[in-house]
Amino acid sequence: MLTTKDHVIASLIKAQDYISGEAISSELGISRAAVNTAVKALRSEGYDIDSSTNKGYILKSYPYKLNLGEISSYLPASRLDNVIVESSVTSTNDLLKALASEGAPAGTVLIADSQTKGKGRRGRSFKSPLGTGLYFSYLLRPSAAPSDVTHVTACAAVCVHNAILRATGLDASIKWVNDLVIGNKKICGILTEMNLESESYSVDSIIIGIGININGSADIFPPELRDIAGTIESVSGVRSDRSRIAACLIDELDKLSSCLTADTSSYLETYSSCCITLGKEVSLVSLPDSDEVARHGTAIAVNPDYTLKVRLDDGSIVDVKSGEVSVRGLYGYI
Ligand code: BTN
Repeated sequence: MLTTKDHVIASLIKAQDYISGEAISSELGISRAAVNTAVKALRSEGYDIDSSTNKGYILKSYPYKLNLGEISSYLPASRLDNVIVESSVTSTNDLLKALASEGAPAGTVLIADSQTKGKGRRGRSFKSPLGTGLYFSYLLRPSAAPSDVTHVTACAAVCVHNAILRATGLDASIKWVNDLVIGNKKICGILTEMNLESESYSVDSIIIGIGININGSADIFPPELRDIAGTIESVSGVRSDRSRIAACLIDELDKLSSCLTADTSSYLETYSSCCITLGKEVSLVSLPDSDEVARHGTAIAVNPDYTLKVRLDDGSIVDVKSGEVSVRGLYGYI
């Protein structure tokens, strides 16, 4: 639910110039006094709002808080009904899964400014410190069998690529299967979880969980992760508006949601052209605790089902399904 303060900050961001208190009050259908109160509250939160007797208010700079007000300035108001923004949660995936089981509709989005139990793939944890990243989960409810939606995470990686490009101008690469990389550092990971209907085994819900490291230096990560993980700011030197990235991501995932079980060929094209793994020497690494020996080769293509085609050093070609591939010159598994 948007508060008056959220509406006022959205009006000021959209105006990009002076806007009178009267214009804001009539646009939002609230009193001038309510506008004044909201402006005061926003100033106390770090929004630099200048006022001039004849021209009204102008937003000079803002703290890029992750909140519904800022996100709403980049999306149509009707899209915000199913967008929830929280300051701190255990895991956005876990919470959205609970909402899905209570009947939340497709397109529901849960965003948090921090997570206390952020989950990564293969049971790993995902560092989610306050005020730096975007911890984001999106609910899909396709009428489909699980085998019809195996491409969903790869397509979501394309959505993240597109959203970062639109919001910041930065062209992140995709490390097969579904990490986003800038400057050889992992800046985003994706964890997709699916619930099946127990009788029909059709898909009941899919939660796409996306964690993007956006602002702050690499010091936000523990020392053992600093060679591997980075933030968009630490690799590009540019601080980004997390709310804008969130809004672009919602828009990109809405588009994916509408075509997921139809034609997704354009996603494969973008995926292949952004895939940093292609053309690189790779090692196919066995899972921990397995006694298989690592095999080496070159990644030559992404197949239509998003498996990776690898020419092994003995000349044979294999299609690799799982993510245990290490790329020479890039970080290992996290
Ligand atoms: C990985 O790189 O292993 C996947 C990381 C996925 C992290 C995101 S953050 C939002 C969502 N909630 C979670 O608990 N995990 C995902």
